[in-house]
Amino acid sequence: MGRAAHAAATRTDDPVETVVVWEPRSKPQAAFIACPIFEVFFGGARGSLKTDSALGDWLSHADLYGENAIGLMVRRNRVQLMETYERAKFLFSKLGFKFNDSEHTCKGATGARLRFAYLERDQDAEEYQGHSYTRVYVEEIGNFPSPAPVMKLMATLRSAAGVPCGFRATGNPGGPGQHWVKARYIDPAPQGWKVLKTEFTNPWSGEKIIRERVFIPGRITDHDLLGAAYIANLQMSGSPELVRAWLEGDWSVVAGAFFPEFEADKHVVKPFAIPEHWSHIRAMDWGGARPFSVGWYAVSDGQDVQGAPKIARGALVKYREWYGMKLNQHNVGLKLTAEEVARGIRALESEDGKIADAVLDPSAFSTDGGPSIAERMRAAGAHFREADNKRVARAGALGGWDQLRARLKGNDAGPLLLFFSTCTESIRTIPALQHDSLKAEDVDTEGEDHAADETRYACMSRPITHDAPGEPPAKYAQHRTFTEMVKRQTARRLSMEE
Ligand SMILES: Nc1ncnc2c1ncn2[C@@H]1O[C@H](COP(=O)(O)OP(=O)(O)OP(=O)(O)O)[C@@H](O)[C@H]1O
Ligand SMILES: [Mg+2]
Repeated sequence: MGRAAHAAATRTDDPVETVVVWEPRSKPQAAFIACPIFEVFFGGARGSLKTDSALGDWLSHADLYGENAIGLMVRRNRVQLMETYERAKFLFSKLGFKFNDSEHTCKGATGARLRFAYLERDQDAEEYQGHSYTRVYVEEIGNFPSPAPVMKLMATLRSAAGVPCGFRATGNPGGPGQHWVKARYIDPAPQGWKVLKTEFTNPWSGEKIIRERVFIPGRITDHDLLGAAYIANLQMSGSPELVRAWLEGDWSVVAGAFFPEFEADKHVVKPFAIPEHWSHIRAMDWGGARPFSVGWYAVSDGQDVQGAPKIARGALVKYREWYGMKLNQHNVGLKLTAEEVARGIRALESEDGKIADAVLDPSAFSTDGGPSIAERMRAAGAHFREADNKRVARAGALGGWDQLRARLKGNDAGPLLLFFSTCTESIRTIPALQHDSLKAEDVDTEGEDHAADETRYACMSRPITHDAPGEPPAKYAQHRTFTEMVKRQTARRLSMEE
């Protein structure tokens, strides 16, 4: 345990009796508090002591820097924030911190100040522009669908008093921000503990600044604070994938994936020369501030093709994508004009031959005074018709997500939807989509869903029927899993009661 953590952990109002109020209870927790690196992400298993680590870190920081320690602790929503706030109140009050419940702030005897806030909408981060903090904490960072508000908060880290500033985040695998969090913290060093360096140049002075970040992995086995019953509870709480993600902190498992049917081995193929007589279609999801997605598909006739695996008749092969995302900025759009996008499309498909059909999301056809996006693209040479935007099943007809799922599942001849390995953004984002927590049959639209929407439009333009005898419709698959899950849980409960 570091010096600061120990000092912070003792009651300050009684110099004789020393009662330990808080101390690290696992190696990663101790490391998190002692870590001098600018940006630290503590992530992994449920119950790996992450939230308490953030609170312990604040105690340490406040103890070291007194009145110059100014902190901000955020979560995505109010209910989640209140949980952290109550735990902080319980711990910090014993160390002389005074809380202001209407402002959600607290102040230590030395003047150290910490503010608690929730950022329900991405724009809420703007309120903090111009503030100065020495510590910013983001709890459950995976609940932020886009990194934008988090990065805005990072820009508030500065201290006129020379306090070394730091960004501290915690999180579990899964959640709408899973893919950007994984890309930023996990992918560069999945086992963690490795310091990653990024170099920045000050545009005025030319001075080079190195910013460091590190991922500290948390596992349920790091400590024995919660006992076997907690592990049993977790084991009963979801699909096997979710349990693995939560118990082991495994980020490669996309917990709650909307399309668990998507498998790289099955659905991703090396590019091959598309036979000329296959028909071509194009689909698009419009976006400006968010990425747009354009996809080109060829329809297989089921014949063998040189250099290609066997492909089922009627399968859609996505052979090209154009994803309008700013370089390395997930979920941030290029903000191109309709004309620029149309010209880009024409240039990309100049050697494709005839495009038999092209569909675009209906919102791009709405007129708001001037010509619609679709009209402007048409004038610049890219024609589209309105896509069928039915997301979920209604009145017996399959919705778009079911169509996409049914194509991923395919038939006896194989999958009915394939992706060239060059369609990297579709391959990155479609398997990462999550269920909407309030409407399980729909995708959580807080995730990066543009390539999926566009693929859905393509699937709806060529709907498939799938009334194979004995096979329940795709839309019931979830209910079936659910029933199985209940049975498994009941069986487990009974065996535990014995
Ligand atoms: N150092 C500590 N001393 C005493 N109790 C602790 C300590 N660290 C964590 N705990 C307690 O252990 C429990 C789990 O810890 P915590 O809430 O920090 O885990 P978590 O990783 O944030 O969990 P989740 O993934 O559910 O958010 C909580 O009741 C917390 O108060
Ligand atoms: Mg927590």
